[in-house]
Amino acid sequence: MRRAFSFVENFGPKPKLRTMNFLRFESEQTWIQSTAAFWRDRLRANPRLRMCLPSGHTPNKIYAELGRSVARGLISFRESEVFALDDFGGLAPDDAGRCRNMLQRYLLDHVDLPKERFHFIDAEAPDLNRVCREYDELIESRGGFDLTLLGIGLNGHLGLNEPGSSLDSGTRRVDLHSSTIQASAAYLTHANLPTWGVGAGLKQLLSSREVWLLANGPKKAEIIRRVVKGEISVEVPASLLRRHPACFLFVDSEAGKLL
Ligand code: PGA
Repeated sequence: MRRAFSFVENFGPKPKLRTMNFLRFESEQTWIQSTAAFWRDRLRANPRLRMCLPSGHTPNKIYAELGRSVARGLISFRESEVFALDDFGGLAPDDAGRCRNMLQRYLLDHVDLPKERFHFIDAEAPDLNRVCREYDELIESRGGFDLTLLGIGLNGHLGLNEPGSSLDSGTRRVDLHSSTIQASAAYLTHANLPTWGVGAGLKQLLSSREVWLLANGPKKAEIIRRVVKGEISVEVPASLLRRHPACFLFVDSEAGKLL
């Protein structure tokens, strides 16, 4: 592992010192192993860790590593809690591309989390507003997230918080940007691409005690450059994490190559 640098930003009329911890790894393999090692530490320090977790391609190899860690008895998810970050709407409940099903397949099937400790947003519920409100109430009743893992969209979105999302947005239905719709094709085995979804809002994500932004591969290099070096703006939601008091950016050498 190589710690590349850490940068400090000041904000607002009365600036407070904020640091985004930036960790760049020499290979995808060390990125996977090191991120998993940090995660094991967090679970050992707090077995009751409340996590908000994404689906998508980015975290899958890290999830596999965590599954192996559970199998080897190094850590346990027994007392922890997992909240799904988001889900697509308009797909069949058993569609392999549903975020809930991906999270199940890549992580939950391989760890010892009791079923009732996994929470997700039911995008097919008849009263979606109520489902969203109840998701926020559940998160708040637990005291918020301890650790939120996030991938990043090519447009800088965080979960389904697309560019322009409000800072105090809660869990809600969202129309997907065209780049998000196109990206979803990678998870699906059919051409019925989702046009909307439901996801936890920036309010919940930014108030998580700790946030990890994960990116690997050359396709993410340009957006990671904008997140780290560009303007802090809701137009690039991930850039807002530079205001977060405990954010770690984990990139491999490819995703970090423009920094
Ligand atoms: P990916 O998606 O992990 O499949 O690249 C990330 C995202 O769009 O948030």
